[in-house]
Amino acid sequence: MDREIIPQHIAIIMDGNGRWAKERNLPRSAGHRMGISRIKQIVRQASKIGIRYLSLFAFSNENWKRPKREISMLMRALDRFLSHELKEIDRNDIRLKIIGRKDPIPQYLQRRIAHAQEYTKDNQGLTLIVALNYGSRQEIVDAVKKVTDAVLKKEIRLDDLDEGSFGNFLYTAGIPDPDLLIRTSGEIRISNFLLWQLSYSELYFLDKYWPDFSKDDLSEAILDYQKRNRRFGQI
Ligand code: IPE
Ligand code: IPE
Ligand code: MG
Repeated sequence: MDREIIPQHIAIIMDGNGRWAKERNLPRSAGHRMGISRIKQIVRQASKIGIRYLSLFAFSNENWKRPKREISMLMRALDRFLSHELKEIDRNDIRLKIIGRKDPIPQYLQRRIAHAQEYTKDNQGLTLIVALNYGSRQEIVDAVKKVTDAVLKKEIRLDDLDEGSFGNFLYTAGIPDPDLLIRTSGEIRISNFLLWQLSYSELYFLDKYWPDFSKDDLSEAILDYQKRNRRFGQI
């Protein structure tokens, strides 16, 4: 791996927990549990490699369409993950940031998130961004509402709004755009993740299900990224 061209920000759509479980005749919940335990290893590895920002898509706005039982299982599992891992996250100097709409995330999880963010806010290592109840179109609509509000309050002038300042109204304000997007499970789509931010990201899709995604798979994705020629519209 070329240490000089490590992506600064990697975003991952962690997909395929359900199919991973189905292949093993296990309930989908078993796939989610495996998927969540996989997060620890990947975060640790990303931090070791020197990635500055890692964004993980954990639950989309559209995932509320799933059976109630699966949703509540996922919310509880994420809560447990945060409660068990907070000390370890902090020890590794990781700053945690959750993006997405608050409602209708259960109150107990909202409290856990608020505490975890506050607890790690001054850490200087990897920034771990977890997209929870996140949808990119919703994020853009929320940003437009915030812009409108700021204009009405005369905090900004509409004429001054440009790509850079608009970015400051997104949930990801202050976070550089992803250099590399990885999606597991073989699906080749974005599923409403970071539409604005991914404009010039390199995309990497692999067939493995998320619970099987390993440290080596992460390295391989980075190696592939290093072979890309990012032109940003130039020649
Ligand atoms: C990703 O795995 C996790 C979430 C979306 C919460 P899925 O649950 O989407 O697994 P598949 O795609 O059905 O296999
Ligand atoms: C995207 O996966 C959301 C997360 C990984 C959290 P989905 O499984 O919800 O996406 P679709 O429905 O296959 O597009
Ligand atoms: Mg899926």
